[in-house]
Amino acid sequence: MEKIFVLMGGTSNERKVSLESGRNVVEALKSLGKYEVVGVDLKEDSLEGVDLSGADKVYIALHGGWGESGGIQAELNKLRIPYTGPGAEASRIAMDKIATKQLLDARGIPTAPWAVVKADCAVCPLPLPVVVKPPCDGSSVGISKVAQASGWARALEAAKAAGSGEDILVEAFIPGIETTVGVIGGEALPVIEIVAKDGWYGYEEKYLSQETRYPFLEDPVLCAELKRLALAACEAIGCRGVTRVDFRVTPEGKCYVLELNTSPGFTSHSLVPKAGMKTGLSFAGVCDKILGKADYDHE
Ligand SMILES: Nc1ncnc2c1ncn2[C@@H]1O[C@H](COP(=O)(O)OP(=O)(O)O)[C@@H](O)[C@H]1O
Ligand SMILES: [Mg+2]
Repeated sequence: MEKIFVLMGGTSNERKVSLESGRNVVEALKSLGKYEVVGVDLKEDSLEGVDLSGADKVYIALHGGWGESGGIQAELNKLRIPYTGPGAEASRIAMDKIATKQLLDARGIPTAPWAVVKADCAVCPLPLPVVVKPPCDGSSVGISKVAQASGWARALEAAKAAGSGEDILVEAFIPGIETTVGVIGGEALPVIEIVAKDGWYGYEEKYLSQETRYPFLEDPVLCAELKRLALAACEAIGCRGVTRVDFRVTPEGKCYVLELNTSPGFTSHSLVPKAGMKTGLSFAGVCDKILGKADYDHE
């Protein structure tokens, strides 16, 4: 039997979600009856002291921080143990919204018009409304919409407080709907719409609200375009394995990539398992498909 280590927990602010993802993945892989599965709760940003002996593959169920931004991926590259999801460099880029937008722009893949400012910037460089965000965080912390000039300084403060560096990302606010496309091994899964209260998918809507709904998007033309762009975005960033690409879509049907998530959630209400199950797989089948794409970066 192949021996699979499922890494979960970690130190980021998504630790709790990761523990839930990790436990689900452990149970799912065990249920297949063909793997020896070991769950590991990582308490530090390091593999030191973690016994991975006999590992055939690692399933990364870490979200955010070191586990999703290339840290653990680089360690596993050194050990030459195949792991799920994109490699170290692609993970680093996807976690950095500025680096991501530069690469997508270069390939002509639409993202919201944008600028980078410092926290003391007096006047917003883009027409309002805009969205102000730290370039390298997740889970919507420190993100705000600015509709009036009077809200500009406070939004910069919030982004600075939540972020880790000097740079703050400003994006044109894209009206319309929000959608997400899971990609596994170069194959786009059915498109899901994210219907949040007031059209804003912030921290509250992601983790606290019961009102956010996630219906499958039906419009075949729009779905085809979103899948095409999702695959192109994964290719531009160099993502292999699993990635979830989030979009805003205007009422006219113009699609903008918001961001790429290289270690999407695996909780009971997470979107990649939901989309994978729409294709006829079980939850465990989706995990197994992702595991089947595990690899490390070959120099
Ligand atoms: N340019 C934008 N236009 C409209 N809404 C946005 C824009 N950027 C972010 N949002 C809203 O804020 C949420 C979080 O932004 P996102 O860039 O995905 O950051 P995070 O990495 O924290 O999830 C999005 O899901 C969306 O609802
Ligand atoms: Mg997001």
